[in-house]
Amino acid sequence: MKIIQVQKHGGPEELKYVDAPVPRPAPGEALVKIAASGVNFIDVYFRIGLYKADPPFTPGNEASGTVEAVGEGVTEVAPGDRVAYAMHRGSYAEYTVVPAKQLVRLPDGIDFNTAAAAMLQGMTAHYLTHSTFPLKPGDKCLVHAAAGGAGRLIVQMAKMLGATVYGTAGTDEKAAIAKEAGADEMIVYTRQDFVAEVKKFTNGKGVDVVYDSVGQSTFLKGLDIIRPRGLMALFGQSSGAVPPFDPSILNQKGSLFLTRPSLATHCLTREELLWRAGDVLNWIASGKLKLRIDRTYALRDAAEAHRDLEGRKTAGKLLLIP
Ligand SMILES: NC(=O)c1ccc[n+]([C@@H]2O[C@H](COP(=O)([O-])OP(=O)(O)OC[C@H]3O[C@@H](n4cnc5c(N)ncnc54)[C@H](OP(=O)(O)O)[C@@H]3O)[C@@H](O)[C@H]2O)c1
Repeated sequence: MKIIQVQKHGGPEELKYVDAPVPRPAPGEALVKIAASGVNFIDVYFRIGLYKADPPFTPGNEASGTVEAVGEGVTEVAPGDRVAYAMHRGSYAEYTVVPAKQLVRLPDGIDFNTAAAAMLQGMTAHYLTHSTFPLKPGDKCLVHAAAGGAGRLIVQMAKMLGATVYGTAGTDEKAAIAKEAGADEMIVYTRQDFVAEVKKFTNGKGVDVVYDSVGQSTFLKGLDIIRPRGLMALFGQSSGAVPPFDPSILNQKGSLFLTRPSLATHCLTREELLWRAGDVLNWIASGKLKLRIDRTYALRDAAEAHRDLEGRKTAGKLLLIP
């Protein structure tokens, strides 16, 4: 089979298209023939070595496909099942083995591209809006990179829960995409000061929660527009890692809370995984949640996908098709 392999950490050019044997499922695992693999910013972090994985490795943390075989003791899925998963590395490939307990069977009406586009960013948006800071009518939130893969889904779920949503985006075109997804107000943070704008929108009161996936360029400023005892949910670092800081700043800015959550710790049990994935896939099937698949690439063009993602060229989901 063909796979993408990172042989040493580095730029997109380190995503090599090579041959490898089809893996066999060990006890508790399933062999999945991949139909579509999602591209996520976390794949960049692994490629550059910010998140730990020793080369050589196959990147990719999300895919959809068909179960071809199962290892001993697997009860969750069977050969022939249409499935999808997130947060197991190795999806930039034609086949992969995945712990069966991480696989979700796809409802009828959800095609493979939709499933691969929905799992990781959809469940992330789900835990941020339903668990990290469970939004309710009247709450106000700021979503950075609101036209991005995760951002657009957070915007939609926040609106489903009745919150007022302010968003940021790098260009007017992206701002329009986030507005279409439901954002109440958009700020083009490459030319507007998002602190001043959010203060204006909230009469100086600030928001209840900031969902920040941008990190270095937005984090500290974001603390200035959170209401007393509100929450900074820092869940990514597309612009670079937030440098170490003195925690007493949280006191000075109004007894703020800070969390740095991950999807893996919000799908710890099979029940939790099926709850989040079930909500996301059912909302998509019923038209309540709208995905935006921005671009699809052949598996061999993974490097181009990474260049586009890191280059801020995309708005929505990127998929690799083996
Ligand atoms: N913790 C978790 O559980 C979890 C799960 C999923 C994703 N994430 C995080 O969420 C973030 C978004 O992931 P995604 O896959 O949905 O990507 P994405 O938002 O579609 O793409 C990243 C976006 O970040 C914005 N950005 C701002 N400054 C940037 C810079 N210097 N370089 C590159 N991009 C910049 C860009 O939007 P603008 O041009 O509009 O600024 C860009 O399009 C990532 O940080 C990722 O790690 C975290």
